[in-house]
Amino acid sequence: MKKNVWLGAGLAFTLMLSPFQQAFAAGTNGERKQVDNVAHRGASGYAPENTLAAFDKAVDMKADYIEIDVQQSKDNELVVIHDTTVDRTTDGTGKVKDLTFEQLRALDAGSFKGEQFKGEKIPSFDEVLDRYHGKIGILIELKAPELYPGIEENVAKELKERHLDRPQNEKIIIQSFNFESMKKTDALLPKVPIGVLTSSKAQATEQSLKAFSAYADYFNPSYGIVTKEMVGQVHSLGMKISSWTVRSQEAADFLLDMDVDAIITDYPDYVDPRK
Ligand code: G3P
Ligand code: CA
Repeated sequence: MKKNVWLGAGLAFTLMLSPFQQAFAAGTNGERKQVDNVAHRGASGYAPENTLAAFDKAVDMKADYIEIDVQQSKDNELVVIHDTTVDRTTDGTGKVKDLTFEQLRALDAGSFKGEQFKGEKIPSFDEVLDRYHGKIGILIELKAPELYPGIEENVAKELKERHLDRPQNEKIIIQSFNFESMKKTDALLPKVPIGVLTSSKAQATEQSLKAFSAYADYFNPSYGIVTKEMVGQVHSLGMKISSWTVRSQEAADFLLDMDVDAIITDYPDYVDPRK
């Protein structure tokens, strides 16, 4: 519903432009269209993923968005970490859902990337919202929401408390591999753009894309399954397409050629060398 409103508004706006401006907007004059540069788990090629150091680096590099992974502690605090255990990225062990917020905050989430990052902490979700909203867009991934009953409501509450659930707020997007969770989130936050993540071609059929377009604004596939045809289909259904995860210049160049709307990358400078 909401995406069709945006599509109609976009079409009306385009028709108000001069023919030259319309050609530029459509990317038919040879200029590359604008692509959003999304720093994956922050600028995680350069600093420990999902820490303030990585998010600050993304701001310094003038990325358009940071991508963050949100999970929940044993005592229901929202925290920013990718894996469902703390083993790989901290000096602790155990499942995120079995540790209290205090226990999670006591861990060192920086040293795994280098001694200079020692002391970086697992950020809380509200800390990230407060520190970065208005400075840079925030692409929020609900990571394994099936492990955290009520996480959608908790995320919605934090956004609403900060008035970040408003229609003009294009710089907050929520995505997940869990489609039921995204349907629920769309119902809780109808004005916040929703993305569905997949690396499966079977979930990119015309029928699947049509079903996603009922509640999603973004179809976000891994770059290995992206084709020009897919990009066209996604656009014709009124959705945008953001693809991941760029870790080489070749992958960035491929996605720039595919004309996706956003590129999710560990290295923001591969998408825009000026960054
Ligand atoms: O934003 C897309 C990407 O983050 C999905 O994969 O495993 O890095 O969370 P993952
Ligand atoms: Ca992610």
